[in-house]
Amino acid sequence: MADLFDFDTRPDEYAVMGNPVAHSQSPRIHALFAQQTGQRVHYSAIHVDLGGFAQAVGNFAANGGKGLNITVPFKGEAFALADELSERAGEARAVNTFVCRRDGYLIGDNTDGVGLVRDLTQNHAAPLAGKRVLLLGAGGAARGVLGPLLAEGPAELHIANRTADRAEVLAEAFAATGRVRGGGYGGLQGAYDLIINATSASLGGELPPLPDDALAPGGWCYDMMYGKEPTPFLRWAAAHGAAQALDGVGMLVEQAAESFSIWRKVRPATAPVIAALRAGA
Ligand code: ATR
Repeated sequence: MADLFDFDTRPDEYAVMGNPVAHSQSPRIHALFAQQTGQRVHYSAIHVDLGGFAQAVGNFAANGGKGLNITVPFKGEAFALADELSERAGEARAVNTFVCRRDGYLIGDNTDGVGLVRDLTQNHAAPLAGKRVLLLGAGGAARGVLGPLLAEGPAELHIANRTADRAEVLAEAFAATGRVRGGGYGGLQGAYDLIINATSASLGGELPPLPDDALAPGGWCYDMMYGKEPTPFLRWAAAHGAAQALDGVGMLVEQAAESFSIWRKVRPATAPVIAALRAGA
C-alpha cells in the first residue's frame, strides 16, 4: 500500500536528451513553467552516447517517463524512431518532442518552428505576412522552421546556403507550401525585411558571407543561436542598420512552452521565463 501511495505522488518525469547536454537551459525553463502552473513534473538532462539513442529512449519510456525533448545531434534519429508523427514533424523530418507511452509507443512532434514564429510575431510583433524573408542555412535547423515560417505568408522566402544545391533541394521540398527559392550567397539580391540565421556559423564565431546590401532599411535580423555576447551575425546586423537584432533565447523558451503544453495541456506564460533567463536567474 505504501509503495502504491509513493508511486502516485511522484512527479511525472520528463527530460531532454542530447550530446552534449550539460549546459542545456531546458531543465531550468521547465522547472519555471512547472512552478508557474502548479504542475508536478520533474525535468532532467540526459547525456546520451552516440549510438545509444534508441536504447536510452526505450529505457526512459519503460521506466514511466512521460515525455522527452530531443536536441543535437539526435533530432533526425528521433524522427526515424517515432511510431507516429505530427504533420509539422513530418514536414521538418526532425523531432524535438516525444510523448512517451509506457508500452514504448512514441508520438513525435516538432515545436522549433512554432517557437521561432511565436517569438517573432507575439513577443516582438514582427510582421511576416507580405515581407521578404531571407533564411540563412539549409541544414536541420533551417528545415525545422521553414513550414511554420511559410504558413505566415511572407511575400517571398529565400534560402541562402554556402552549399547552394542544399538550399535548392530544400526549397523544392517546400515549393507546394509557399513562395520559396534557394541558392548560394553569391546570387543574393537585396534587400530583405527579415534575415534569420539558421546556420551553425555562430557556434564557431563565424559569419555567413552576406552581401552588405542584404538588409532592407528598417529590416530585422534574428539569430536562432544565442550566447552571453552578441553573435557575429547580430554584430553584422547592428553594423548594417537593423531596426531589431534578436537572439534565439525567445525561440528556446517558446519551443519549450509548446512542448510543455503538449505534455501537460496547460500553456505557461513565457515572458517571465525569458526575463529570468536573460537575468541569468
Ligand atoms: P543544423 O542541424 O544545426 O542545421 P547542419 O545540418 O550541420 O546543422 O547544418 C549547418 C548549416 O550551417 C548548413 O547550412 C551549413 O552550410 P553548408 O550546408 O554549406 O555546410 C551552415 N554553416 C555552418 N558553418 C557555416 C559558416 N561558417 N558560414 C556559412 N554557413 C555555415
